Amino acid sequence: MKMICLLWAGVLLFAGCSRNEQTQLPDQHARLEKLRQQLRQTLGEKYHEPIPSATSAQLKRGSELFPELCGGCHGVRGDGKVEHPGVLLHQPSNFTDKAQATFFSEQARLYLIRKGSPGTAMMGWEEVLPEDDILALYMYVRYLCHSQEPIFFNRE
Ligand code: HEC
Repeated sequence: MKMICLLWAGVLLFAGCSRNEQTQLPDQHARLEKLRQQLRQTLGEKYHEPIPSATSAQLKRGSELFPELCGGCHGVRGDGKVEHPGVLLHQPSNFTDKAQATFFSEQARLYLIRKGSPGTAMMGWEEVLPEDDILALYMYVRYLCHSQEPIFFNRE
């Protein structure tokens, strides 16, 4: 049984790695569009509610947490560049790309950080992190799209 599980895991991993961008992109887009609709329904009017500007303390906190917690998949600079992108079935977002960063509404992105995106590697963080940190991470992720250079307060 163990062997079968291992084999199956291997097949799944291989399927993920061998898919090329061309075949992945169209259904990826359809899936994201569906997710956006679902989030619109779940959040209702709140979907379009703006989120206030960040305080510098929030940006600082977000910049400290991001590389370690999120950088493995989204890239330490938030640009989606990682060492082994092939192992992820669904491509993590590039937060520095305006089109990608504005595909979901602000509330929807915050919701995805809290709850995760089902069926992808993006887990929900609300069980792991206090609300203040979730907000700080959202603020930092939003900031990445507007700035030329990510800030790393603690790094040179
Ligand atoms: C294990 C890999 C992984 C980690 C770690 C991870 N993400 Fe993600 N993330 C993803 C993937 C994959 C997607 C795309 C989900 C999809 O296609 O539905 C995603 C999507 C998102 C989105 C929604 C898409 C968008 O453009 O707004 C946000 C926001 C996000 N991640 C924030 C974070 C934050 C903040 C952290 C750290 C606390 C984090 N992620 C950690 C893999 C990861």
